[in-house]
Amino acid sequence: MDFTKLIEKRRSIRKYTDENISDENIEKIVRAGLLAPSSRNLKSAELIVIKDKDTLKKLADVKASGSQMLDGAAFAVAVIGDSEKAVDAWIEDCSLALIYMQLAATELGIGSCWIQCRKRASKKEGLGSEAFAREILGFPENYSLEAIMSFGMPAEEKTEITDIDDSKVHFEKY
Ligand SMILES: Cc1cc2nc3c(=O)[nH]c(=O)nc-3n(C[C@H](O)[C@H](O)[C@H](O)COP(=O)(O)O)c2cc1C
Repeated sequence: MDFTKLIEKRRSIRKYTDENISDENIEKIVRAGLLAPSSRNLKSAELIVIKDKDTLKKLADVKASGSQMLDGAAFAVAVIGDSEKAVDAWIEDCSLALIYMQLAATELGIGSCWIQCRKRASKKEGLGSEAFAREILGFPENYSLEAIMSFGMPAEEKTEITDIDDSKVHFEKY
């Protein structure tokens, strides 16, 4: 797909069919995440691929709201960053991996949604999203959770993005 078309087509898809996604396509998406650039080329972002339905169901409560689509997703990828290795840029490194994966999924006709977990609260009283996810996924303390991306075959249709706000662009000076 032409790049301009791809970025117009990219939308957040939160409803999925029951259709499974092949390991080949999962690998393509994950590889796209690993192809993203990173600060000082430290490659601080790491990916946890989750296909197990019970785990996805549990993770649906990772946020008080805005994460329920994980229950029903074909798979998800938790994007964690080594915040000791790249203390100043792990958020950017993780974010780039996330958007690369979303664009790769779009090209394959697979729906996805970014679920921000950094600085968010889980459904469990008093427990942040990162601590909630760590209990389930077991990543070490020096890794921080930026977001989880849910993936599945789209059960909703969204229009392409055409409303670009040109007033956000400033030339030479604000
Ligand atoms: C940093 C970031 C955090 C987001 N967090 C969530 C989230 O937690 N839950 C959710 O349903 N959507 C989330 N989204 C998706 C946005 O709501 C969505 O991108 C926005 O409404 C624009 O819609 P579009 O992606 O279809 O163009 C997030 C997107 C970004 C970029």
